[in-house]
Amino acid sequence: MDVMEDKIQPHQYIKFKKEGIKIVMVTAYDSIQARIADGVGVHGILVGDSLGMVIMGYSSTLPVTLNDILHHLKAVLSVRPKPLVVADMPFLSYEVSRAEAVRNAGRLVKAGADAVKVEGGVDIVDKVEAMVKAGIPVMGHIGLNPQRYLILGGYKLRGKRAEDALLVYEDAKALEEVGVFSIVIEFTAADVAKHITDSVSVPTICIGSGPYCDGQILVFHDIVGLNPSPPLFVKKYANVYEVMVNALMGFKDDVQKGLYPTPQHYKLMKDSEYDKFVKMIKKRQGN
Ligand code: KIV
Repeated sequence: MDVMEDKIQPHQYIKFKKEGIKIVMVTAYDSIQARIADGVGVHGILVGDSLGMVIMGYSSTLPVTLNDILHHLKAVLSVRPKPLVVADMPFLSYEVSRAEAVRNAGRLVKAGADAVKVEGGVDIVDKVEAMVKAGIPVMGHIGLNPQRYLILGGYKLRGKRAEDALLVYEDAKALEEVGVFSIVIEFTAADVAKHITDSVSVPTICIGSGPYCDGQILVFHDIVGLNPSPPLFVKKYANVYEVMVNALMGFKDDVQKGLYPTPQHYKLMKDSEYDKFVKMIKKRQGN
């Protein structure tokens, strides 16, 4: 098998934690985003089910299918990225049985993913254990689980109260025990995320859970300013939405004012060929 020398592997994440290297991850759903993430040198790319919201415009991640993830995974893998490529397992692709979890995770790994990510803790550890035993690296995802927003009562901060913080902590410990190589902690009180980070041997990757984790992840569209309503924990580093609107406005204006296309944007035949062409048409018309 062709293995890239500098390709980041799941086990290196644990080394990063030991060495105090802050892990940087970003989502990507197409080849351009993957090329940018690769070029910047992040440690991981997540083909997240957030694609349901930022690409498909759904109001939640629930409608996303395994085939949707496979489709976008193919686009990301086309640039042979060096960062670890993690594929999200969509809602109901791993919760039902151990066999189904292994089969579906297997499809993602066979397609080229380096690892899969699943939402949940104590409730799904038997499925996570089965995947790990089958040789599939698994990243956990605890705290706010968007796939469970219906039973969580919305996209609410986790760990505000001690009882809830304990549940999130127990999820982390259960996942660690069955062999995940890292854990995403989403929108959880920062002191709870810190406590968990200090209590587990695998790296924690935060999204909206403060600075004390071993790494951070954000959604590509949120970082570059392509999401008109990003979550409150997002820091926007550019306003690409505005850049795109201005570009399209410019195109529309130019076309309407006759300023596009201009000679550098098109080609003409040679005069002699054009004359020949006109004669051929005339002949065809019987003139
Ligand atoms: O799908 C996604 O983008 C995610 C991140 C929020 C971690 O799961």
